[in-house]
Amino acid sequence: MAKERVLITGGAGFLGNVLTRRFLGEGHKVTCLDNLMYRQDQSIMPLAANPDFEFVFGDVRDRALMEEQVPRHDIVFHMAAIVGAPASEQRPFDTKSINQDSVAILESVRGKGQKVVFPNTNSGYGTKSGQFHCDETTPLEPISLYGVTKCAGEDILLQSGKGAVVYRLASVFGISPRMRLDLSFHDMVLQALSTGAIVMSEGSFTRNYVHIQDVASGFQHAIQNYDSMVGEAFNLGSDGANITRKDLAMKVSQRIPGTVVYENEGKADLDKRNYLVSNEKLRRVGFEANRTIDQGIEEVRRGLAIMLKNNPYRNV
Ligand SMILES: NC(=O)c1ccc[n+]([C@@H]2O[C@H](COP(=O)([O-])OP(=O)(O)OC[C@H]3O[C@@H](n4cnc5c(N)ncnc54)[C@H](O)[C@@H]3O)[C@@H](O)[C@H]2O)c1
Repeated sequence: MAKERVLITGGAGFLGNVLTRRFLGEGHKVTCLDNLMYRQDQSIMPLAANPDFEFVFGDVRDRALMEEQVPRHDIVFHMAAIVGAPASEQRPFDTKSINQDSVAILESVRGKGQKVVFPNTNSGYGTKSGQFHCDETTPLEPISLYGVTKCAGEDILLQSGKGAVVYRLASVFGISPRMRLDLSFHDMVLQALSTGAIVMSEGSFTRNYVHIQDVASGFQHAIQNYDSMVGEAFNLGSDGANITRKDLAMKVSQRIPGTVVYENEGKADLDKRNYLVSNEKLRRVGFEANRTIDQGIEEVRRGLAIMLKNNPYRNV
């Protein structure tokens, strides 16, 4: 791959951290633009030792900043967002302005030759029609503010005529220097490790999952195959990881012996995700996510076990 200048908005996030390292590792120059809203400076600070890494502190809603930063890059991954339905319900103004309006700013300041890859969510499939088997022709009908604003971002990019590759991501799992414990996969492993029990609702709901390193590989694939993928949306998940929440909890309990799984009525998913997603379209352009759920549980178990050893409040 030719060495290029990559701008990653939200580069200090869960996915952004892994993408930043992947593209630096490939020899590219990477700029991370982030407002560090979760005080995650320590996750990216070690990268300052790499002369190909640059950090820009700022907000993707700042048009002047975007005018300055976007044009000097060959590639833009627009990851910055308020992520997940619960976080979005708590911050409706930020959700609309970051997840949707900043995409319009990006679109207005970028040139036609710049490659853009945008991560939408597959959250909207099947929710109103009740369709269980979903592919890219299935209407996206999100019900949460998060899903609505991310899908609006996809529309802005695909309809502008400048071209972009959109990924409709499955629920992501795996270790990142900036972990997200609010992701249900990670939450189940954490519950099992810290309490010996997993309490979950909507056990019969099927979701599609994908490993964070497979997402990074998918972004590399989009850049390497940009001309054949531009202007299209692709599901990015693992076909082997369409699984019910109950079966996922049972897999976690097998990996962490002694864990008891309880189902209750509480804490419903705001996007009511219950569908089986096909990743065939992406396979047809040459990419397949292949890390397994079991690999992910093992990796996350080992990572979170380290985290749980951390107790800064005792000297003895
Ligand atoms: N993690 C998943 O399972 C998943 C699934 C589907 C889609 N996505 C999409 O992937 C992207 C990254 O998600 P993530 O899981 O890494 O979330 P994250 O919350 O860890 O990362 C978001 C990053 O954006 C930054 N940010 C937020 N508002 C900003 C602003 N106004 N200006 C600059 N930076 C800002 C945050 O500080 C954070 O570093 C999002 O666009 C999300 O919608 C994620």
